[in-house]
Amino acid sequence: MAVERTLVFLKPDAVMRGLVGPILNRLEARGFTFVAMKLLHVSKELAEKHYAIHKGKPFYDGLVRYVQSGPVVACVLEGEDAIAGCRRLMGATDPRKGAPGEIRFDYAQEIGRNLVHGSDGPQTAATEIALWFKPDELVTYRRAGHEWVHEKA
Ligand code: RTP
Ligand code: MG
Repeated sequence: MAVERTLVFLKPDAVMRGLVGPILNRLEARGFTFVAMKLLHVSKELAEKHYAIHKGKPFYDGLVRYVQSGPVVACVLEGEDAIAGCRRLMGATDPRKGAPGEIRFDYAQEIGRNLVHGSDGPQTAATEIALWFKPDELVTYRRAGHEWVHEKA
């Protein structure tokens, strides 16, 4: 296990439905550290760059529209195994295929309105963090109580 950083953003449905607090709380309560956070409207350019890997797929146009349909909250989270750990908290891409306890299962019903994004690997995380944040927007600190989450602090 390694300390990792991952890009997470709360999609417009999360903001419009007033679920920012409950969703961020799940990530924070697990013990991950917020390294960066901002509210923004995603530009067409950012949406297309972020989802470039999905270009040509049947859901691509709808996805690019969805992510620009309202404000999003973008974050960088840090912690042991943060990339997979955050994705496990989010759960199955399709909320219907998930299980209780997963953010997408607990708060959402459809794959096209699945509330939250998380980077899917170390390379993607590095690329996405650089795409969404400037280096000086990343803040390094250690959360209080670190030793109560990590035995070998
Ligand atoms: P994300 O990138 O948002 O964290 O989700 P993911 O890795 O679990 O899923 P991915 O395959 O990367 O898909 C990105 C987003 O595209 C939408 N999607 N719609 N209608 C569909 O079949 C479909 N498939 C994917 C979802 O919003 C998904 O989160
Ligand atoms: Mg993905």
